[in-house]
Amino acid sequence: MNDVIERILVTEEEIIKRSKELGAVITQDYRDAGKTPIVVGLLKGSVPFLAEIMKHIDLDIEIDFMDVSSYDGAQSVGDVKINKDLDTNISGKNVIIVEDIVDSGTTLNYLKAYLQNHDAKCVKICTLLDKPERRVKKEVEVAYTCFTIPDEFVVGYGLDYDQKYRNLPYIGVVEQ
Ligand code: IMP
Ligand code: MG
Repeated sequence: MNDVIERILVTEEEIIKRSKELGAVITQDYRDAGKTPIVVGLLKGSVPFLAEIMKHIDLDIEIDFMDVSSYDGAQSVGDVKINKDLDTNISGKNVIIVEDIVDSGTTLNYLKAYLQNHDAKCVKICTLLDKPERRVKKEVEVAYTCFTIPDEFVVGYGLDYDQKYRNLPYIGVVEQ
């Protein structure tokens, strides 16, 4: 185990098992609805999770990536900046946004509205982790969650602390 990790919260085996389950649920939902989704990963945190779950979605999916950063301005209003937009035209498409963690919900609320304004037919969210205690202002509708965790800062499986520890194969709590 990495020295800075105080404790492992979710193991690699648990992530793979849960990704298989969720991938099967997504497959069923979209197959039943006769829809083919485009899976949009948010850089960089979603990469390991996206790579895992996409293998378990048994449909002719497309994938694309966006890079957005959220920051709290002087006001309490969270602002979101798009650093890399989609390569694909999503007009009329069924989008599944894949995220590493839903925290305050600012990023996803903004992004959902952004994609809807670009005429996506349907926008759903799939996340590796959810910290519901941290929501501010608005709720976010998360369709697919792997794990709900308490309000602790975690790293690994894509999640970083100062751009480090994304490569850890588990989700761990950082030593204080
Ligand atoms: P929010 O939901 O807009 O507040 O922001 C979510 C983003 O904050 C995630 O995509 C992560 O990049 C980052 N984040 C939130 N909580 C954690 C954490 O515990 N560890 C690492 N990054 C986090
Ligand atoms: Mg992120």
